[in-house]
Amino acid sequence: MCGIVGYVGKSDRTVHVLLRGLERLEYRGYDSAGIAVLKDHHVDVVKKSGKLDCLKACVDPEWKTEIGIGHTRWATHGSANQENAHPHQVGKVTAVHNGIIENMDEIKKELSQANVVFRSDTDSEVLVALLNQIYEKCGNMLMAIEKTMKKVVGSYAVALLCEDDEEHIYVMKKDSPLLLGVGKGEMFVASDYQAFCEDTKEYVLLDDFEYGVIGRSAWHVYKDGKEFQKKIEVLEEREELSEKGEYDCYMHKEIYDIPGVLSQLFLFYEKQDTHHIPDYTKYHKIQIVACGSAYHAGCVGKAFFSHIAHFPVEIEYASEYRYQPILADKDTLVIFVSQSGETADTIYCAKKIKELGIDSLAIVNVYNSTLSRLTDYVYYMRAGEERAVATTKGYSSQVALFLIILREWMQARKCWTASLEEEYQQGKRKLFEVFPTCLKKYEQFPWISKLTEQPMNFFIGRQIDYALSLEASLKLKEVTYLNSCAYPAGELKHGTISLIEKGTVVFAIATDLDTYEKTKSNLMEVKARGAYVILTTLEDVVKEVEADEWILVPNIGHLFQPMITILPFQLLSYHVAKSFDLDVDHPRNLAKSVTVE
Ligand code: G6P
Repeated sequence: MCGIVGYVGKSDRTVHVLLRGLERLEYRGYDSAGIAVLKDHHVDVVKKSGKLDCLKACVDPEWKTEIGIGHTRWATHGSANQENAHPHQVGKVTAVHNGIIENMDEIKKELSQANVVFRSDTDSEVLVALLNQIYEKCGNMLMAIEKTMKKVVGSYAVALLCEDDEEHIYVMKKDSPLLLGVGKGEMFVASDYQAFCEDTKEYVLLDDFEYGVIGRSAWHVYKDGKEFQKKIEVLEEREELSEKGEYDCYMHKEIYDIPGVLSQLFLFYEKQDTHHIPDYTKYHKIQIVACGSAYHAGCVGKAFFSHIAHFPVEIEYASEYRYQPILADKDTLVIFVSQSGETADTIYCAKKIKELGIDSLAIVNVYNSTLSRLTDYVYYMRAGEERAVATTKGYSSQVALFLIILREWMQARKCWTASLEEEYQQGKRKLFEVFPTCLKKYEQFPWISKLTEQPMNFFIGRQIDYALSLEASLKLKEVTYLNSCAYPAGELKHGTISLIEKGTVVFAIATDLDTYEKTKSNLMEVKARGAYVILTTLEDVVKEVEADEWILVPNIGHLFQPMITILPFQLLSYHVAKSFDLDVDHPRNLAKSVTVE
């Protein structure tokens, strides 16, 4: 979602740092972009709808200025046009904003009565106008920020320039992420450290209700009118940036990263003393809370816990969990799953759980992200930077972590048997044995054109195969824009089967031999109604079903099977998107880091 970058330092670097920072934030998803630079008490703003290239075409790279801010916008209030793009400029204040101002109507009305004229439809411009109005009255930007923060309701990360002050960028934060990058003779501000980590490894994490100011060689953070001491964090090696290398897009590269990521992950977590393990014997219930693909990884986690540990797990979308009574107590462990660690709904739920003093655990990729700081226990996914909006290696590492946690959980409860351990070790060995062949094997699907012949594609499966169907279907939708839907195999006949007609593609996933026969019957039901059935099952299953096409996956045992079964669908989505000539890494309308509700 919206990305913020700001720089104060050397005049020949400002434009370069801003544009490169925005490039590094592109992965978050956006539909317009802009920058503003301050020189001679005048702020120049350049903004464009569309991708960064449109902005770059209008910016002079030789522009000399020591201070500037930039933004990539993911539209919420108002369409993705140039007027609504950031930075917004009202009077002496020019700002970029990430978040949503919930009481914008009320503030806008008051400002309009004071003759403020608005050029955009955004809540952000209203926020800038308020900051300007208060600043005009008090003449002190820090005071204006403090007063503004008391008045606005909602979420915000803001970086702003004031025409009267050529040496500083001002910042304020609540609920949306914002960091200060501490360089030598230069200072940065950004939504995440990827925007500046090539220039400095030192950064300061802003917390809610903090605000501050950065100059070339100093930074100050305040809370409630007083200066607030903050710790300087140092980036670790594992947070290094990732490059596309020989691949044509990040999604393809990140699929190929999966075996390396998983092998490092198992190695790391199997070592003792590398992480802080909760006392798994004390909980009576697990709740999993997440969004999007992280939720789907949680569905696999739930299946692991119920089928293997016979332990009850509830799973909820964070956007739903936040609006329901919390049915958790001190004997509950709430597991939050999030690649970015910044998803607004997930963060809100984690805050609520923390306030209630209930134990929480995060499965998260981004080091030091908000979620990692809010939870009692953190299992880092150690997947490296994931840049494609549609997650692949992130999802696979979340699934792997659920298996790691299940094993630790059952070991703590003394129910991880010797035969489970043997299955685990064998499964893991097989997983890495089959990966290279599978990566090659699923690079081609001769029946791809079938997917476009009907308005809808379906995925069906039972239990863990249903959990995988959810992710397979989402992946296809996200990057190819083809309509698809996942159903528990037995549910399709309760209404939705009316949509099946001659040629409708139904992907049946049936790798779980306990439910294989049942899914087979469901497959026959749709086949009888003309569906084009593509069956995913184990290589060693006897091919007695009349599927139209087969995706065969090696049988590596139930513990590791999901990590290989999802692979053909990750590659399929990539190949379909490529065949449509789409922007695989930046699908339209999507954001990788969803920092609004
Ligand atoms: C967005 C992304 C999805 C992701 C979801 C949750 O919708 O496009 O790929 O699964 O957010 O993100 P998180 O960072 O919390 O895993």
